[in-house]
Amino acid sequence: MEDLIQPHGGKLISKELSGEEAKEGVRKAKELKKLELAPYEVSDLEMIASGAMSPLEGFMGQEQMQSVLKRMRLPSGLVWSLPVVKSVSGEEKKSLKVGEEVGLIDGESREVLAILKVAEIFPHDKKVHANETYQTEDPAHPGVARILSMEEFLVGGDIQLVQKPKHTKFLNYRRDPKDTRALFIQKKWKRVVAFQTRNPIHRAHEYLTKCALEMTDGLMIHPLVGQTKGDDISAEVRMKCYEVLMEKYYANDRVLLSVFPAAMRYAGPREAIFHAVVRKNYGCTHFIVGRDHAGASKPDGKPYYGSFDAQLIFNNFEPEEIGITPIFFDFTFYCKTCQGMVSPKTCPHDKSHHLSLSGTKVREMLRQGEIPPPEFTRPEVARILIEAMKEKSAVSS
Ligand code: ADX
Repeated sequence: MEDLIQPHGGKLISKELSGEEAKEGVRKAKELKKLELAPYEVSDLEMIASGAMSPLEGFMGQEQMQSVLKRMRLPSGLVWSLPVVKSVSGEEKKSLKVGEEVGLIDGESREVLAILKVAEIFPHDKKVHANETYQTEDPAHPGVARILSMEEFLVGGDIQLVQKPKHTKFLNYRRDPKDTRALFIQKKWKRVVAFQTRNPIHRAHEYLTKCALEMTDGLMIHPLVGQTKGDDISAEVRMKCYEVLMEKYYANDRVLLSVFPAAMRYAGPREAIFHAVVRKNYGCTHFIVGRDHAGASKPDGKPYYGSFDAQLIFNNFEPEEIGITPIFFDFTFYCKTCQGMVSPKTCPHDKSHHLSLSGTKVREMLRQGEIPPPEFTRPEVARILIEAMKEKSAVSS
């Protein structure tokens, strides 16, 4: 592994038991007092255990959380931009003792997943959590809404995974950091660019990924498949879109499609730092950040963050503190006169030459069964989205 980029903090963490130890761990965890995990906490747990969140070894304590919120660094000084916490109710707090071990169970499947060694229990200051992470406490912000739905206390402590969450979807695309690192070595990819996405790949996304691949040895398309907000397109539908593009428009010997188990936080700039650093743990050397990365919009349609805040935030750090190299893209779109994908950096023509379609307009077209122009989205992708919308409306009507 010596040729690969170092994980964040220098060491790939593994908090996962295997073989007999794992079986024994499951037996032990079943006997312990239990705490339930929400879906986004299951995602965090899985990522801590696999080393995707290296150097984290558990859920954050108060000092770690405050340091992350105030300075975007762990107490050691290492860059870390988002809290990774487990909330508990007042009732649960009463029953917990510092120093004891508790079992963590998946709140949906009821399977026991991990053992948590309780290091501390502290009040959850939701106002500070929201304001520092999201620069707002507006309950309409999906990340703030999640914080508000969390419990009143937080429990910090190291974890040990005894059993992986039982996934039923995307099994062929689930690769932990050790797996992607091994694959990159096998493929002899030294410079690997990661593409974070929570949307179907439209032509603009395809352009970014292919430009970045021109400069590197390999591309990892790394769609987020953890919890997203209700109006985002489901991971199942998106995966069908990625598969058809892999089949028809990407060079498979240069592109790896793997899923990213994280839940979406919609923290814009802070999430861009997080997304970059964790992709380093997967062995990637470069990371794409375009416009409105990990952003969210207010109910009136106005964005919470500036279009390029997620790029500007990188200026707060020395490049070696981040370790992975961000590749920034301006707003990209199709120009009818240039006859290709462009950005304001590369196109001399004014707006009248550009194909501009709002997200709302595209959704409306798809809902009507209309295929948007191929310069906006590949017809193969449009057909999958149209089908999915038909099914969704059939279910909800
Ligand atoms: S995100 O929440 O995962 O960032 P999305 O899947 O839409 O959302 O975007 C994936 C990446 O592509 C992000 O880095 C985003 O900034 C970038 N991106 C999406 N559309 C464009 C565009 N038209 N121009 C430039 N960058 C874009």
